[in-house]
Amino acid sequence: MKTILVTGSNGLLGQKLTDLLKGNSKYNLIATARGEDRYPDKTGYKYVSLDIANPQEVEKILSIYKPDAVIHTAAMTNVDQCESDHAGCDELNVKAVQYIADACDKRNIYLTHLSTDFIFNGEKGPLTEDDQPDPISYYGESKLKAEQIVQAMKGKWSILRTVLVFGIVSDMSRSNIVLWVKNNLEQKKVIKVVNDQWRTPTLAEDLAMGCFLAVDKNAQGIYNISGADLLTPYDIAQHTAKFFSLDASLIEKADSSTFKQPARRPLKTGFVIDKAKRDLGYQPHTFEQGLQVLADQLKQV
Ligand SMILES: NC(=O)c1ccc[n+]([C@@H]2O[C@H](COP(=O)([O-])OP(=O)(O)OC[C@H]3O[C@@H](n4cnc5c(N)ncnc54)[C@H](OP(=O)(O)O)[C@@H]3O)[C@@H](O)[C@H]2O)c1
Repeated sequence: MKTILVTGSNGLLGQKLTDLLKGNSKYNLIATARGEDRYPDKTGYKYVSLDIANPQEVEKILSIYKPDAVIHTAAMTNVDQCESDHAGCDELNVKAVQYIADACDKRNIYLTHLSTDFIFNGEKGPLTEDDQPDPISYYGESKLKAEQIVQAMKGKWSILRTVLVFGIVSDMSRSNIVLWVKNNLEQKKVIKVVNDQWRTPTLAEDLAMGCFLAVDKNAQGIYNISGADLLTPYDIAQHTAKFFSLDASLIEKADSSTFKQPARRPLKTGFVIDKAKRDLGYQPHTFEQGLQVLADQLKQV
């Protein structure tokens, strides 16, 4: 039996990884996060508190549990917070990655690291793994530095880049576009949604499966793991309204320039996912199928 240790297990991806890996006959799961475990059903895996910003804790936990693989999901994921708190962003998104990479290298542990489309400048898309990063936000810069740390490892690693993840888990620390649109339209609120940005939105379950496939296949290198449908946030909102039978006339088109946000967002990203399909057997849901997965889970809440 092999052991996989997940960081950030309270997050959206972290909890979907717990869904996928708990009780697995081939893998033991060690789920780790800051503070208390927020995953609801605490059977079929072990939870250990791990603050990734603490290098002694990282060393200690990896030496006690000796995992075969680490899936590193934890990060400062709020793009605007990274813009206003450079030191905090460096701590979580860069320094902590160095602690984890060093601790993995010391013990020959395979590392899967999560990265983002925000390492690109948004001038072209959809992007392949070979396109040149050029971040336009502090978050993007920090995630690119993290990629460089992982790529310098002596041992085996994979970097999974993803885009605009959506889904639902319990006790979420932040929302995502589909839930935001659905909640606002249910409250009959008018929403302004940009139609000059392009993304390939990713169902959180598909991203978790991508992580699992990378570990299971001992994949080496960079992989784009996202949905396959290229949509604007406005399109996403329209599809979401239609799917949940909500009033789409409340959705207003907006231009990115009308939003005053601390961090710049790339206009055009989205990923070509052929490499992950070919090498890992990755097969994401369509965006519509993803909405159905989410709707089925909402019925159970
Ligand atoms: N979501 C997206 O649209 C998106 C897009 C591209 C790339 N990504 C990347 O995908 C990965 C997973 O994202 P996600 O959507 O699952 O994000 P998320 O829901 O925000 O989860 C991130 C988790 O990291 C945890 N964390 C923060 N600081 C920590 C620390 N010091 N020690 C341990 N855990 C800590 C957070 O804990 P708390 O819950 O306690 O705050 C949170 O649960 C990230 O690396 C992100 O950069 C995400």
